[in-house]
Amino acid sequence: MLEELREARRSSGWSQRTLASRLGVDAQTIKRMEKGVGSLATLVAAMSALDFRLTGLGSGKTLPEQLTARRRERSLSLEKTATKTGLSRKTIATLERGGGSIASALRLLAVLAPHARRRAPERSYWGQGDREDRDSRFTPSDFMDCIYAAFGAIDLDPCANLLSPVVARRRILLSEGGDGLLEEWSGDVAFVNPPFSALLKWLRRAYEQWRAGNVKTVVCLVPVRTDSAWFQETLVSDAEIYLLKGRIRFLNAEGKGQHTPFSLMILAMGASTDSKACLARMIPGRWMRLADTVECS
Ligand SMILES: C[S@@+](CC[C@H](N)C(=O)[O-])C[C@H]1O[C@@H](n2cnc3c(N)ncnc32)[C@H](O)[C@@H]1O
Repeated sequence: MLEELREARRSSGWSQRTLASRLGVDAQTIKRMEKGVGSLATLVAAMSALDFRLTGLGSGKTLPEQLTARRRERSLSLEKTATKTGLSRKTIATLERGGGSIASALRLLAVLAPHARRRAPERSYWGQGDREDRDSRFTPSDFMDCIYAAFGAIDLDPCANLLSPVVARRRILLSEGGDGLLEEWSGDVAFVNPPFSALLKWLRRAYEQWRAGNVKTVVCLVPVRTDSAWFQETLVSDAEIYLLKGRIRFLNAEGKGQHTPFSLMILAMGASTDSKACLARMIPGRWMRLADTVECS
């Protein structure tokens, strides 16, 4: 974790001195912190300044809050945690209040969340490869199992790929001369994980096909990009939005998983209340309540 923190500082272009001046401490303190020596408070301040967050912990804004949430999630008492970590109950309680040393915090972290890693910084693009490569990321089957359970079997994948695990009765495949932007959609349920480089085009298509009654329910899995006028003025009145908590590990053409470096949402059109409730039981996230109008005085 300290190695990742150092890397985060370097990739921000900050020297130890720069970080020190942001935190109001001397460069020696940062040097020691990066070696795991010093107070947890310095580490927490550095994490915040570098927007450095870890995955695999409980909810909370700071590392102490997240460690506390994680311990509770795992139903571990202070007593049990003390036995597992070799730290005293008093030390654990101090750490959870944000006090104590970095060394003790790391010991606690290693027991509570041994696989904690740096959360990839938020970006709006995949960041690697050419456009075709970036657009060919496939929805993993464990995620799809929740989609089938919530919405039923998929009748149409209008932007399918032979390498994708998505199971659909009808697949429109670019590689076989198909074009989901031109061909008419059909069926009860369409699942759309579109090429993100042409997101708006695909959302418009999904909306038109659903409005035309060609498909009863459309479920789109897309990045949270909500800034276009069309989205705000048209789509939002009919689509329902499920904001995903956490990110999805999409598969690339080699079957290797990669988490999106951006947030995702499900846009559903024509979904039943039961389907929405079922989805919420299986996939962490939140259906957004869309207010029709907000009056400003
Ligand atoms: C992000 S991938 C998703 C594949 C699959 N739907 C899934 O969820 O795993 C998007 C796919 O859309 C395909 N595609 C791009 N333009 C298309 C078009 N006009 N018609 C049909 N498929 C298209 C790309 O080849 C790419 O494989």
